[in-house]
Amino acid sequence: MCGIIGITGTSVVTDRLVDGLKRLEYRGYDSSGVAILDDRVIKRERAEGKIKMLEARLGAHPIDGQTGIAHTRWATHGVPNETNAHPHLSGRVCVVHNGIIENFLDIRQELSHHEFVSETDTEVIAHLVDEALSAGLPPIDAFSQSLKKLKGAYALGLIIDGEDNRIFCARAGSPLAIGVGENEMYLGSDALALAQLTSNLIYLEEGDWAVLTPESYEIFDVNDKAVTRPVTIISGGPAMAEKGNYRHFMLKEIYEQPETITRTLENYIDEFKHAPNLPHELDFTDIDRIILVACGTASYAGMVAKYWFEQIAGIPVDVDIASEFRYRQPVLSQKALFIAISQSGETADTLAALRYCKNNGVKTAALVNVMTSTMAREADIALPINAGPEIGVASTKAFTSQLTALAAITLGAAVSKGVLSAARQEALIKSLIKMPRQVKDALELDGAIEAMAFDFSKAKNAFYLGRGSQVPIAFEGALKLKEISYIHAEGYAAGELKHGPIALIEDGTPVVVLAPFDALFEKTISNLQEVVSRGASIILITDVAGAQHIGDMVKNIIIMPTAHDFTAPIITTIAVQLLAYHSAVHLGTDVDQPRNLAKSVTVE
Ligand code: AGP
Repeated sequence: MCGIIGITGTSVVTDRLVDGLKRLEYRGYDSSGVAILDDRVIKRERAEGKIKMLEARLGAHPIDGQTGIAHTRWATHGVPNETNAHPHLSGRVCVVHNGIIENFLDIRQELSHHEFVSETDTEVIAHLVDEALSAGLPPIDAFSQSLKKLKGAYALGLIIDGEDNRIFCARAGSPLAIGVGENEMYLGSDALALAQLTSNLIYLEEGDWAVLTPESYEIFDVNDKAVTRPVTIISGGPAMAEKGNYRHFMLKEIYEQPETITRTLENYIDEFKHAPNLPHELDFTDIDRIILVACGTASYAGMVAKYWFEQIAGIPVDVDIASEFRYRQPVLSQKALFIAISQSGETADTLAALRYCKNNGVKTAALVNVMTSTMAREADIALPINAGPEIGVASTKAFTSQLTALAAITLGAAVSKGVLSAARQEALIKSLIKMPRQVKDALELDGAIEAMAFDFSKAKNAFYLGRGSQVPIAFEGALKLKEISYIHAEGYAAGELKHGPIALIEDGTPVVVLAPFDALFEKTISNLQEVVSRGASIILITDVAGAQHIGDMVKNIIIMPTAHDFTAPIITTIAVQLLAYHSAVHLGTDVDQPRNLAKSVTVE
């Protein structure tokens, strides 16, 4: 996923473009660039690496003007270097792009008389428009006709040398918003990019394109018909994405979880009636199967929810990783409910799965953190998690809010199926209401976990083990460690290790065991003993009762607040988040923007 920002107005724009790029850097950060119309002449500067490299380049080679576009990249085609950095230029045309142009090789072939200088798919857009201008088409026609030749996904901004202050933009498959200012118009990949500039956003719809001038904007649909789109007032403003006193966004977002979980609960639980309170359109009465589809961390939330929906509501659940779902030709029925789980609401494979189900007549819901996202707009039911902007690439508060929402939705499903006794409903609702306090107590363990992370961060490999609904938390703990500390780790069902992977256990192999004192505790401890007897170095994440039972068998024990079995996976998550975070900090990696990653993967 890349970040785009553009401004056309009556005052200089370079500094504000760079500031916007910094707010977009979580979307991709392997190179960046700015292009300006300075008295109708395009000037461009680009740099490999983080935004600070671009700032240094602009310090040495300043450019400015009243119209400009800028871009921060997560490479899809072409290595991350200056040549492949956006904006891309051809003749009079300069463009920034987020997405993938699938037919870029055909277009290169068609324009073989052009000289292509980069390895990117994006560059073909500039050449297409430049070719149309050279054929005598006026800019607006050159732009709209070139769009029709593109196949794939794009959100793009484009300026033309020799033209007045104007930005051409378009959206197909990747999100793009117009910002409305005072004698200024803006373009941005998301609300965060424009948070310092305006609160008045217009989200372009699929196939829309637009022309921005300092005084106006005109929007056209895929058939080039002039259309109007609603203005959304975005709350939160600049504070939306500030680190405050935290060293990293990830730590801030870990510490926000008592509050964000509370906010999520308010959407799905009636705290006074002690009852689930689902949106009326989310009715499980006639649903006989739930399909949960997501990627990465979000998919682990789905895996936990499978235990809940089946054990509490008695509804069969299929959990699929999105990149496989549509290709396995799943058997679908009209009595199924598809739920996409996605923090960004833009992940390409998850969106494709949602569209696949919708096209096959299945009712769709999207559990998202961004209610203006494509999934929220395209699903039959949009379900907010209300976790607030998550800037750290490693997902933390969104994950626990996804789990919280799914837990509450499970109770609503059980009630609609008539399978939840009043006593059990009361117990489970109470466990949810108590949970934010327990998360806050779990955060008190930060210092103890940081101390353990010091040795843990020296590992080259690590295992995470769990049973039952702790298995997906073992997967999540391993992923957190991998993606921010670059230590290889695997999550495993504890009972599975002896079927092969135990061969990897040797003296000192770190093994994190997730074992609250529940019905599976004894079995999990047996598995712990199997690896201890082969030299493993254990970190046990348990609760008071678990610690009493284990005695002095294990040196490193993290004693979490005692939680109901139902909410235990959310509580143990706090420990694995902090363990990964402090390990990465000890190793000095870029915690908020780990190498090779981007916050949301909007390409397949
Ligand atoms: C989580 O830490 C990762 N950054 C990644 O697995 C992420 O959860 C996944 O890409 C899904 O993103 P989404 O929730 O925005 O769809």
